[in-house]
Amino acid sequence: MAGKWSRVFLLAVCAVSLLGAEVKVSIPVGKLFTHELMRETFQIYIEPLSKLYGNFYDDPIVFKCNLQNFPDLPEWLRFTQRHPYDNGFLYGTPAAPGNNIIEIFAINKRSYVTAKQILTIAIVLDKNPLPYQAEFFIQLREIEKVLPSAVQEEIKQDLQRLWGSEALEVVNVTNALDRGGRVPLPIAGHFEGVYFKVGSKQYFSECLQKVLTPEHQRQCTSRTRVKAPGGCNFCNIPSNCITWCKTELFNVSKPKPTPALIMGSGILESGGDFNPPEFSPERDFFLDYIITVIVPLILAIILCLLLSYIMYCRREGVEKRNKKTTEIQMYHHHTIHGTSDELRMMAGSRDVPPPPLSTLPMFNFRTGERVSPLEGTSPTIPLIMAHHEPYSDTLPRK
Ligand SMILES: *[C@@H]1O[C@H](CO)[C@@H](O)[C@H](O)[C@H]1NC(C)=O
Repeated sequence: MAGKWSRVFLLAVCAVSLLGAEVKVSIPVGKLFTHELMRETFQIYIEPLSKLYGNFYDDPIVFKCNLQNFPDLPEWLRFTQRHPYDNGFLYGTPAAPGNNIIEIFAINKRSYVTAKQILTIAIVLDKNPLPYQAEFFIQLREIEKVLPSAVQEEIKQDLQRLWGSEALEVVNVTNALDRGGRVPLPIAGHFEGVYFKVGSKQYFSECLQKVLTPEHQRQCTSRTRVKAPGGCNFCNIPSNCITWCKTELFNVSKPKPTPALIMGSGILESGGDFNPPEFSPERDFFLDYIITVIVPLILAIILCLLLSYIMYCRREGVEKRNKKTTEIQMYHHHTIHGTSDELRMMAGSRDVPPPPLSTLPMFNFRTGERVSPLEGTSPTIPLIMAHHEPYSDTLPRK
């Protein structure tokens, strides 16, 4: 028992002691920021438990990140962790200077011990901006595989040779899924793809400029398999090779002229009271009147006339019908008519007309006695009984 409680106590102590770890970084605007959330660093805090429960170095750990006091990360920062047994990554390119305080929670999915880390990111203005930027699409990669700095370096080396310049910096890395890409089939050899953007102060090399040639663009639109333009294939590792047709060049030094936004104070100028105009200019509504009222009216009248002509003037009269009917048929018809008229007359002159069957009572409302409708013709039984009975009679009197 005592052992169990000490474990609980230890658990509580370490859960509290996890708080307070803090990391500070300073990064420039417009350059890629990556921060790997190492499982091992967080496992240091969870370590005491492993002494109690055996080897826990391989616990699944998930990370949850958010901007302090907010539910989510800032817009520029993304988080990815493929699997609880993989490291997580925070990455993104800040667009404006400022301070971001990120809360990182690591949750051990086996013991449910959590650890918290505070990451303070100070974003400062970039002193040497990179005017020439190029974005490459790497088809055979996934975002987590590209973010470790060693891989970034590999890819950069290829691009440095392509650019013919050492001074190259990674500007932005994006998962292709975030740019409308499709989730690949779960088959080996299918990848999500990554957009990799680098920038430099040096102008694009000849190889890169070939992307802009009409010949290259024509090749890309016709569905033939496009290889690197002559002599420009610099990729050493096949998985780092770029898709030439998705290469884009940007010149950031000449910002696109955007119409300047003029900010007012947000308050309308005071100009006294509103004076409604006394005279309004004459407007001619005659044509509108014709189109919206007269024309539909005329159409309605024409339709009405047409309908009445069809209904009345072209109607077959009784005389015409009779003329068409054969003599023998007419005779037959008249005989039936005559006979039924006579029968009706004879019925009307009977002395005591029996009441219609439908008005006969089926059973006596008060006594519950059933009466056959055929016997019920006796005049002693009133035809309608219930309607004259006061309601209170049916209930016991109080
Ligand atoms: C980085 O790329 C993403 C996705 O393409 C884009 O939304 C973001 O604005 C880019 N960041 C910068 C600073 O260009």
